[in-house]
Amino acid sequence: MQLKSKDLLDIETLAPEELTFILDTTETMKEVSARDIKKVPTLRGKTVVNLFLEASTRTRASFEIAAKRLSADTLTFTGTGSSLSKGETLMDMARNIQAMNPDMLVIRHQASGAPAMLARLLRIPVINAGDGWHEHPTQALLDMMTIREKKGKLSGLTVAIVGDITHSRVARSDLHGLRKMGCNVRLCGPFTMIPPYIDNLGAKVYPNIEEALKGVDVIIMLRIQLERQEVGLFPSIREYSRFYGLTTDRVGRAKKDVIIMHPGPINRGVEITPEVADGPYSVILDQVANGVAVRMAVLYLLSGAGGR
Ligand code: CP
Repeated sequence: MQLKSKDLLDIETLAPEELTFILDTTETMKEVSARDIKKVPTLRGKTVVNLFLEASTRTRASFEIAAKRLSADTLTFTGTGSSLSKGETLMDMARNIQAMNPDMLVIRHQASGAPAMLARLLRIPVINAGDGWHEHPTQALLDMMTIREKKGKLSGLTVAIVGDITHSRVARSDLHGLRKMGCNVRLCGPFTMIPPYIDNLGAKVYPNIEEALKGVDVIIMLRIQLERQEVGLFPSIREYSRFYGLTTDRVGRAKKDVIIMHPGPINRGVEITPEVADGPYSVILDQVANGVAVRMAVLYLLSGAGGR
């Protein structure tokens, strides 16, 4: 099997069998990451360019580690150290990078659609590492991988996603992916943070967190994206936390074997208490570990090394 597109821009356009194929490949990559010598020659001689024009810790580090574990050469640009700060456009920058003949480009950008624009312009595979409010496909893949690993399946599970749904590219990618894989998805947050059209995508909206968490298998908590919000979507952080923060009491509404996830970075004491974030149901660091293997799988599958 092969992925249909040369690029990974979103989860919305992937077929369920493509998602399963990527997750199965991720399992193989996890075996590599568990070895003493965590390196295979699969992408030897290939160059991966990481263009991170918005802040990132997990995604940027894991793409870099993933490429290196596959023996690719890597080059990372950020907004401040590049000629973008001198007024060069993203398109001109991309054309110049392409002239150096790299093999893949990973991009995080604050504008929704920036990776898709580059994908149309460039011959090489483009991977979306998070664009504006749009999608964060590799985050959804690592989330699905973590759930599948912990629960042994995806189909039939009930997943609650709680927080700032409107501004969250993670919520959008998770929703597409989890629905395609047969999960029931509940979305919970203040009405000012839930897009009006969202139930068309097959999710059920819950304004009340106690109701939303009743009997769920998985809870995904989201950070409030203050950098993407206009003012006035909720009265105060303290109030938001009181109504939508995940506490030990609220975890008690879910199934006994619930798992708690968060894409990071966490705002401790806002959307999740430290006791819950570090507690027995939390799989937040498992998500981070799976991020490396998922990104290895995506780089491998899009490189053509597996026979594109
Ligand atoms: N989950 C996520 O995208 O984290 P970073 O912003 O640190 O990459």
